[in-house]
Amino acid sequence: MSAKSIVRAGDPVLRRKASPVADPTDPEIADLVREMAASLAEAGGIGLAAPQIGVSRRVILISVPSARMSDDPDDGPLPLTALVNPELTPIGDVRALAMEGCLSIPGMRGEVERWLRVRLTAMTPEGRPVDTVMTGMRARVLQHEVDHLDGVLYLDRMTDFTRFGYVEELIEADMNAAPPRTETVAPAGPAAQEQADAR
Ligand code: NI
Repeated sequence: MSAKSIVRAGDPVLRRKASPVADPTDPEIADLVREMAASLAEAGGIGLAAPQIGVSRRVILISVPSARMSDDPDDGPLPLTALVNPELTPIGDVRALAMEGCLSIPGMRGEVERWLRVRLTAMTPEGRPVDTVMTGMRARVLQHEVDHLDGVLYLDRMTDFTRFGYVEELIEADMNAAPPRTETVAPAGPAAQEQADAR
């Protein structure tokens, strides 16, 4: 199965909500996963969503090498993993800011806030259910890829565009490798407002 070219921002497929997969073990999905794996290997990323090769289905690949781990004790490397119909639920109230890139926005990085810890439910292409907790870099990549399935790009989640730019310039400005900064998000409700006011 050969690599496909990666769709870039501006293509409407990246803005569409991808459709769920009825049968994760359908051979068509196995073919799609092989095509995605070849494309990810060629492009050299740590995650890929099916819409990024032009297929609007809820399938993602993630692969986190140990060099890309955060220093969260619960974080860790993850071998190439294919997930069908992935769903995420935030755990706790801690979010982390860190620089992110996207194969569909080549050459650029921006700082994005993500949940530090998420619960992942999904199916594998072999038909095995997945129900696990992911933290740190793994949680970040998952949130980025699941966003792709909902037509969301990391740019949409950015709040400070002074922390966005071309990789070389960000490295030069010492912004690319800044360690993730975490913050606790106040829970919703009147008590939360009091808490926020007290800060
Ligand atoms: Ni991306």
